[in-house]
Amino acid sequence: MKEQPIILGIETSCDETSAAVLKGDELLSNVISSQIDIHRRFGGVVPEIASRNHLTAILPVVDEALCSAGVKKTELDAIGVTYGAGLVGALLVGVSAAKALAYALGIPLYAVNHIEAHIAANYLSARGLRPPFLAVVASGGHTGVARIDGINEFSMIASTTDDAIGEAFDKVARAVGLPYPGGPEIDRLAKTGKPSIKFIDRKKRRTELSYSGLKTAVVNYLHNVEQRGEKPNIADVCASFQTTAVDMLVDCAVSTARATGINTVVAAGGVSANSYLREKLKADGEKYGLTVYFPPMSLCTDNAAMIAVRARDMMLGGIAPAGLELNAVSYLKIGESDR
Ligand code: KG4
Ligand code: ZN
Repeated sequence: MKEQPIILGIETSCDETSAAVLKGDELLSNVISSQIDIHRRFGGVVPEIASRNHLTAILPVVDEALCSAGVKKTELDAIGVTYGAGLVGALLVGVSAAKALAYALGIPLYAVNHIEAHIAANYLSARGLRPPFLAVVASGGHTGVARIDGINEFSMIASTTDDAIGEAFDKVARAVGLPYPGGPEIDRLAKTGKPSIKFIDRKKRRTELSYSGLKTAVVNYLHNVEQRGEKPNIADVCASFQTTAVDMLVDCAVSTARATGINTVVAAGGVSANSYLREKLKADGEKYGLTVYFPPMSLCTDNAAMIAVRARDMMLGGIAPAGLELNAVSYLKIGESDR
C-alpha cells in the first residue's frame, strides 16, 4: 500500500454537497456547495429538496475537487463516502456516485461514519494529535463525549438523553424568529446580550446531558413574556440559552476527562464553530490542565475533507472496503458499523 494514498472524499448527508482530495495528510482540495439559501425560506432542511439539489451538484463538485487538486480520476487510490448518519435520500446521492466511481476506476470504497469523520477532521489541523483522546461531539444530530482509543477505535461514553445541541440551537433560533440555520445566528446575537435568564436549574441536573427541557423552557419563557404584553430581549435569551447549552456539554467533557484521566480533548461537529463553546472549552481546559484542539472553522460544519481523512485511516488501518451493496443509513452510532 502507498504511504501517501490519494483519496477522494464525498459528503452529502444533509444540505452540503462536498468533495475533497487528500494526499497522505495533505489536503489538496475541499469543495463545498451549500444549499443553505435554498432551505432558509422553509425554516429548515426539506429532505426531498436536499436530495434533488445533491443530484445536480454532485458530479460538478467532484470534478471541481479533482481539478483544483490537480489530480486525475485515474490517480485516485480510494474513495470514502458518508453512508450515515443523515437524511437517507441525501446520503444515497453521495453513496451512489461513490459506488459508481469506485467500480469504474477499480479502486476500494470506504463507508464512512459521519460523526467519526467530524472527530477525525482534527487530524488535519492538530498535527501532533494521537489517541487516546476525548471528543466533544456537538452537531445537529449527535451530542456527547466520545473516547478515541486508537485511530479506528471510537466509542461514545456520554450522550444526550434526547435532542442534539445543534437541533436545540436551531429550534430556539426559530422560536425567537431567527433564520435557518439558527446556530450561527444565536452565536452572533448572544455577543450583544447578557446570560441573565435562568431557564433550568443546572445544579439539580449537573450530570445529565439533555436539551429538550432547555428548549421547552425557552419557548415557555417567550410565551410568558408575550402573555404579559411585554417584548423579550432576544439577545439576552440567546446569550442565556447558549451559555446553558454549552456549559452543560463542556462540564460533561471536563468531568469525563477527570474520570478517565484522558487529558486531550478535541471538539467536533457544526456547533464546535460556536464562539462561546470554543472560549469555554479553552478556558476550562487551561483550568483543569487539558490540551484542547478545535478544527478550523472551515472544517467544523459538514465537509468532505473530514470524510477523506477518515477513509485514509480506515484504509491504512486495514478496515475492509465496502461492496457495491453499500446502502445509506439514517441512524448510526459512533464505533458501530451497520454493514
Ligand atoms: O455538524 P453539522 O454541520 O451537521 C450535522 O452533522 O448535524 O452541524 C450543523 C449544526 C446546526 O444545528 C447549526 O445550527 C450548528 O451546527 N452550528 C452552530 C454554529 N455553526 C453551526 N451552532 C452554534 N454556533 C455556531 N456558530
Ligand atoms: Zn455533520
